[in-house]
Amino acid sequence: MTLTLLSGTAHPALAEAVAEQLGTVLGRCEIVRFPDGEFHVEVLDSVRGSDVYIVQPTSPLADPHLIELLLLADACRRAGAARVTAVIPYFAYARQDRRARGREAVGARLVADLIHASSVQRVVAVDVHTPTIEGFFGIPFEHVSALPSLIEALGPHCADQTTIVAPDLGASRLAERYGTEFNLPVAVVHKTRLSGEDVRVSHVTGDVRDRSPIIVDDMISTGGTIEAAYLALREAGCRSELVVVATHGLLVGKAIERLHALPLRQLIVTDSVPLPEDTALPLEIVGLQQLLSDAIRRLHEERSLADLIDHK
Ligand code: R5P
Repeated sequence: MTLTLLSGTAHPALAEAVAEQLGTVLGRCEIVRFPDGEFHVEVLDSVRGSDVYIVQPTSPLADPHLIELLLLADACRRAGAARVTAVIPYFAYARQDRRARGREAVGARLVADLIHASSVQRVVAVDVHTPTIEGFFGIPFEHVSALPSLIEALGPHCADQTTIVAPDLGASRLAERYGTEFNLPVAVVHKTRLSGEDVRVSHVTGDVRDRSPIIVDDMISTGGTIEAAYLALREAGCRSELVVVATHGLLVGKAIERLHALPLRQLIVTDSVPLPEDTALPLEIVGLQQLLSDAIRRLHEERSLADLIDHK
């Protein structure tokens, strides 16, 4: 079966890098937007009988990128593709995995249903906000991890006086993982979300006095979490310097401004979403092309993905 790699408009640079790793080129598609806002998608090369992989993070703006993905999958199925896999390096809506208040939608579940309905037969996603998302899908969900590469990039920033910090309770397992890896103590910031942009911190558990904090998270969206966590850490006596590591650097809204106001020594993120140019931030970008091309090659050859998944 031939392998076909396609990309929507979300992150063609990453899709091209993955194609290069696989020794292939991207299949041609035409994606246009009609004057009323609708998308029209056409796959220009034959995919009949092909094993198709569509590389499309649902990066900002999430909704148009999601719709493009659904339309591309539908086009492939109708054109006779043998199998369609959605490769979603950043999975939006994953934070909406439950009803925190009475009349909210469970966005993550709905998005999973939409992806399934578009005839995607398998999903590959990277460091999704919560692993429970897998259970929302009735199709195989391959949850690969950028953590080994992020750990490698973080190594030079760890010293005896470092404390790994979870900026909220949700990140505490991740922080434990980094803490164990580097044999460093872990602190947890207790955060409540007030809105999409703002959070409030009540307290910090763990000793951070005179220590250099490394904040670890799955994603940085508006930077509100990082800003509030750092201010709380300073109040608790940490040193005036900061390293931040996260898989997904969305950097929307006031994020860049907020991060500039912090004594940031290094910000380490992957290229799961396109990053804004000229941020003037001390940014280190960990490329995902190796991880994603490895996952695609193994799936195409029906081989195990076990060592691409973080089981710890
Ligand atoms: C929340 O649970 C996530 O892990 C991140 O901490 C959060 O989504 C980051 O968003 P923001 O940068 O807008 O505070």
